[in-house]
Amino acid sequence: MEYVLFIIIAYLLGSIPSALIVGKLGYKIDIREHGSGNLGATNTFRVLGIKAGTIVTLSDILKGTIATLIPLFLDADVYRLIIGLFAVLGHTYPLFAKFKGGKAVATSGGIILGVSPLLFISAVIVFLLTLYLSKYVSLSSIITAVIAVVVAVLLKEDIGLIFVVCALAAFVSYRHKDNIKRIRNGTEPKITWM
Ligand code: G3P
Repeated sequence: MEYVLFIIIAYLLGSIPSALIVGKLGYKIDIREHGSGNLGATNTFRVLGIKAGTIVTLSDILKGTIATLIPLFLDADVYRLIIGLFAVLGHTYPLFAKFKGGKAVATSGGIILGVSPLLFISAVIVFLLTLYLSKYVSLSSIITAVIAVVVAVLLKEDIGLIFVVCALAAFVSYRHKDNIKRIRNGTEPKITWM
C-alpha cells in the first residue's frame, strides 16, 4: 500500500511540466510549438534563454530528487529508486501535458542525486566534458547516461542502483531516437555558446 501511495505521488510530481509552465507563465509561449517542440530544459534554453532554461533544468532535476527523498523523510520502508523511476515516467509521459513530456535526462539525474550525490556529480562532469567536445546536448545526454553505468560500477554502488542506471541509459537513448537520426543526417542543432 505504501508503494502505491509513493508511486502515485512520484508520478504526479514528475508530471508537472516545468517547461510548459515557465513558458506560458513567464513568456506567454507554448514551448511545444517552438524549437524541437520538446518539453525539456534544452528546448527551453534554446527558445527562452538562459534564465528560463536554468529554472526548468533545476525544477526537472528537483522532481526526481524530491521523489526519492520523500520516502526517506517519512521513514517509509520502500525502495527509493523505484519511486524515483515513477517521477521519470511522469516527466516523460506527463498527466498534465497530454502524456507528451521530456526526454528523461534531468529527472533521471535528479533521482541519482537523491541516492548518490557522488555519481550525480561525476555524471555532470562527464556531461559538460562531452558537451564541450561535441556541442550536441542530445549526444552528451546519451553518452553521459551510458558512462554513468560504468562510473556506478567503479564507485561500487549498490547493485540495485547499477541496474536502475542501466535501465535509465536504455530509456534515455530510446527517448533520443529522433535526435540520433538528426545527428546522422546533420540536422541536429549544436550549441554555440561553449
Ligand atoms: O538531452 C537533450 C534533450 O533534451 C534534447 O532536447 O530539444 O534538443 O530534442 P531537444
